[in-house]
Amino acid sequence: MTRRLRWLAPALVAAVVGCGGGDTARTTEAPPANAADFLYDGNEIPEHAPARFGFGSEASEARVALWDIDVRPDGVGLPPGQGSVSEGRDVYNIHCVACHGPTGTEGPNDRLVDSEQWDDVPTTRTVGNYWPYATTLYSYIRKAMPQLTPGILTEDQVYAVIAYILYMNEIVPEDAVMNAETLPAVVMPARDKFVMDDRTGGTGVVR
Ligand code: HEC
Repeated sequence: MTRRLRWLAPALVAAVVGCGGGDTARTTEAPPANAADFLYDGNEIPEHAPARFGFGSEASEARVALWDIDVRPDGVGLPPGQGSVSEGRDVYNIHCVACHGPTGTEGPNDRLVDSEQWDDVPTTRTVGNYWPYATTLYSYIRKAMPQLTPGILTEDQVYAVIAYILYMNEIVPEDAVMNAETLPAVVMPARDKFVMDDRTGGTGVVR
C-alpha cells in the first residue's frame, strides 16, 4: 500500500495542477520496477493478495429462504394463510390509501383500478386491465408495498388486500377469500392478451 501510494502521489499532484488551468504538469518519475505487481489483469491473483478478504458470511439455507420469495403464475411460492375482501378493505385504508386513493384510481401514485377493456394497448395499464396473473400481486406486494415500509404486512394481510384490489376491479365477488388455492385460480381479464415470445434466431436483440 505504501509503495502504491508513493507512485500514485505524483500523478495526483499532476491532476490537481492540471485542473488549476496552468501548464499541464507531468511527472518525470517513472513507476517503480515492480509496478506490474499492482496491476491486476482480472485473470491472475497477485501473489501478495490474501487468500480471503474476510467479507461476508455463509449464505445458509435459512438466509437464502428469506430472499427466495417470488411467486409464479401457477401459484408456486405462495405461503399459507388467507384473507377476505372485507379484511382487505381495512388493510388498504390503513396502508395503501394515502398513495393509491380511496378507490384505487385517484392516488398520486400508480392506479390500481381500471376496467377499460382493450384490443390493442390500453391507455392506462393497471392490475385490473393489464396484469395477466393474479399471483403476481402476491409477489409484488410482499416485496415492494407499502412503498415506504415493504415487509410490514402479514401473509394474511397480503392475501386480504389482494382480495380487495381484485374486488375493486370487479374481478372477484365481495365474499371472495384469497389463499394459495383460490388466488392462482383467478382468471385475470388480460390473461389472453399476451403471447409467449417463442421466436428463435436473429441476433437475440428484441426490438
Ligand atoms: C408511499 C406511497 C405508497 C404506498 C403507501 C403504497 N404504494 Fe403501492 N405504489 C406506490 C408507487 C410509487 C408505485 C409505482 C412503483 C413503480 O412503478 O415502481 C406503486 C405501485 C403499486 C402496485 C403496482 C401497480 C402497477 O400496475 O404497476 C401495486 C399492486 C401496489 N402499489 C399495491 C399497493 C398496496 C397493496 C399498498 C398497501 C399495502 C400500497 N401499494 C401502498 C406507492 C405506494
